[in-house]
Amino acid sequence: MSTILAIETSCDETAVAILRGPELLASEVASQTEHEAYGGVVPEVASRNHLVHAPRLLEHALETTGVALNDIDAFAATSGPGLASSLMIGASIAKGLALGAGKPYLAVNHLEGHLLSPFFGGDAIERNVSLIVSGGHTLLVEVRGVNDYHVLGRTVDDAAGEAFDKVAKLLGLGYPGGPEIEKRAANGNVARFDFPRSMLDSGDHNFSFSGLKTAVRYRLAEFPARTEQLVDDMSASFQRAVIEVLTKKTVRAAKESGASAVTMSGGVSCNQALRKEMAERCKAAGLELRVAPPRLCTDNAAMIAFAASLRFQAGDRSEVSEEIDPNLALV
Ligand code: KG4
Ligand code: ZN
Repeated sequence: MSTILAIETSCDETAVAILRGPELLASEVASQTEHEAYGGVVPEVASRNHLVHAPRLLEHALETTGVALNDIDAFAATSGPGLASSLMIGASIAKGLALGAGKPYLAVNHLEGHLLSPFFGGDAIERNVSLIVSGGHTLLVEVRGVNDYHVLGRTVDDAAGEAFDKVAKLLGLGYPGGPEIEKRAANGNVARFDFPRSMLDSGDHNFSFSGLKTAVRYRLAEFPARTEQLVDDMSASFQRAVIEVLTKKTVRAAKESGASAVTMSGGVSCNQALRKEMAERCKAAGLELRVAPPRLCTDNAAMIAFAASLRFQAGDRSEVSEEIDPNLALV
């Protein structure tokens, strides 16, 4: 049974995890809230924070689990995609630890971390069609096994999470926008605004969310005051449009590919309304649905450790000279 230590610093979350076999011994996440004041993630601020948080989380994870560096079989880090200066911090620490302990280093693709997270703790990846919905990505992937991925579609502009964040900002809500919109949507009228369902019938598996964001901006400008009811209704109608497109297109892709299972991962998959709708549509189509628990959906190092452990079992190793890649593709 192997023990993996993983570090995730691709954006503004600093995370460290220790995974032994199927058992998650530690999973620590430090979120950076200082970016809210700037209305987006400032790379320089993010990387400086990683430098402060990573050693602290690492020490805490080792101390609380009683695991010694010598007990670790491989050190893993996210090597992309993400912010270059942030990726560099986690990767450099993991490489340094691997060299110091004389153990292998594993570079992990952040998207693969999300993609495999619905199977966390298991040792087999069944064939599925996977929707990755996060702040930076919206991807539909056919998964045939570990490292056997075929991208079916992706967003042609904004990611779904990015749309949640931008619309939240328009509505005067906080960052990250997803959870804020979800809260407001719970009291709102989904039918008050008929927002566009872009590319719903496009015939391919791609997505587009920037028109939806623009539609919200124009409708909002028609009102002299941003009342609580207006924000609730706009949140509900916007969320409804995103969910309808994501769920319908995912189920269609699964049916076309012949897969019998659907998986969903990434920060947006924390959204309870999305989870419910996806479950209902999958059930109606006779598809099994697997979604990771919410703590594994937003950025974390446990998913990186899990992807690394499957790679490690398969005999994969990375060179410590391997560079980070801000634009690293899944395949
Ligand atoms: O996976 P993640 O933590 O980071 C990236 O890899 O991007 O995803 C963050 C995104 C943000 O855009 C955030 O607004 C969105 O996930 N998000 C949600 C919810 N929780 C987080 N979107 C909708 N509903 C939620 N409950
Ligand atoms: Zn992510």
